Amino acid sequence: MNAETRKVNGSLSYESNYIEESTTDNRLSLIFSLKEEVGALAKVLRIFEEKGITLTHIESRPSRLNRDEYQFYINLDNKSTPALDAIVACLRHDIGATVHELSREKKKDAVPWFPRTIQDLDKFANQILSYGAELDSDHPGFTDAVYRARRKEFADIAFNYKHGQPIPCVTYTEEERKTWGTVFKELKTLYPTHACHEHNHVFPLLEEYCGYTENNIPQLEDVSNFLQTCTGFRLRPVAGLLSSRDFLAGLAFRVFHSTQYIRHGSKPMYTPEPDICHELLGHAPLFADRSFAQFSQEIGLASLGAPDEYIEMLATVYWFTAEFGLCKQGGKMKAYGAGLLSSFGELQYCLTDKPEFKPFEPESTALQKYPITDFQPVYFIADSFENAKEKVRKFAATIPRPFSVRYNPYTQSIEVLDNVEQLKNLADCISGEIGILCSALRKLE
Ligand SMILES: [Fe+2]
Repeated sequence: MNAETRKVNGSLSYESNYIEESTTDNRLSLIFSLKEEVGALAKVLRIFEEKGITLTHIESRPSRLNRDEYQFYINLDNKSTPALDAIVACLRHDIGATVHELSREKKKDAVPWFPRTIQDLDKFANQILSYGAELDSDHPGFTDAVYRARRKEFADIAFNYKHGQPIPCVTYTEEERKTWGTVFKELKTLYPTHACHEHNHVFPLLEEYCGYTENNIPQLEDVSNFLQTCTGFRLRPVAGLLSSRDFLAGLAFRVFHSTQYIRHGSKPMYTPEPDICHELLGHAPLFADRSFAQFSQEIGLASLGAPDEYIEMLATVYWFTAEFGLCKQGGKMKAYGAGLLSSFGELQYCLTDKPEFKPFEPESTALQKYPITDFQPVYFIADSFENAKEKVRKFAATIPRPFSVRYNPYTQSIEVLDNVEQLKNLADCISGEIGILCSALRKLE
């Protein structure tokens, strides 16, 4: 595999600890964990048999959270609904299983939960799809016990983090700094010719104020503070990949979930997951740009309470913009996607005549399939962030949701605009702003 930076935005398939509700039918789904001992599953199956429940699907795997447990994922037919509470109670109390109920018959038009306040982000920050310290067998650091222990340290920082706390500073090792230095040096040579204007405008400021140098890995806290002074965006440490829904919800609050660990030193130009090089070199500069920040937040706001299929479409739009977006500037194509700006190989490749280029149109972009383990065969070109924002706004209006939402930066909360009182408050705010605008215009005249 020659791609350097992959699985970059936390919007991957749901393959791990948390599985989203099925939207295609009314199946009942459960995950439960059992201690690894002879006959444990047989006891569970006997309960289902006694209650007359039909299992339509069962999967098992070793638990990623507890090494002496096994996790089971099951589907029941929907005639089992009346017995579900009794089954869950038996599993919990008689068997001692940990049970996660994933879905039962859904109320028609039910709106999925979404965070209302910035503190609500604490509720899902640890629900990662892959455990930050648990590495797949093909990860470059899989057999390196020191690297794995280090990853656990970073995962623990993220797991213990709560909104409002300073992000703990990390003393990076010499080897980690060397890895960063290799990536930093290579990419910096490409930015003047390949990166968009906004990235090149902000990058020197990060060097000046946030410790971006070849020999130093910047601290998330410093970068977060810098971004807050520019656009109100802030970073929040995360241990691994969040679901698309959770990741996008963070953007609605101008919060970017950022990893803090660095890729394995044996392959400085490759990482199978987002790492601090990807976050700080690829994402952070653009979050300091007012227009891009607003664009990102608009995608996040559109995702709140959206049906699952629209979350997938928004995640795809995000993929082809914030991760792999290209734009036209001064008659040339430039990269603004973080997956490009943090990948030495793909940053060069994306501006050659090898890939296919299409105009960014959210309706069609949202349906484009893409690989996550190789360079993109197709890129979408935006005329500008302003233009892309307008298009995303129109696309968001088509999302079936029985309300509109607005972010209130003073209370750092989401206002659900579903009653007259809320609309009056909004009208008051707009009226005040228009008054300021008119006054300013008169003074300019
Ligand atoms: Fe990313």
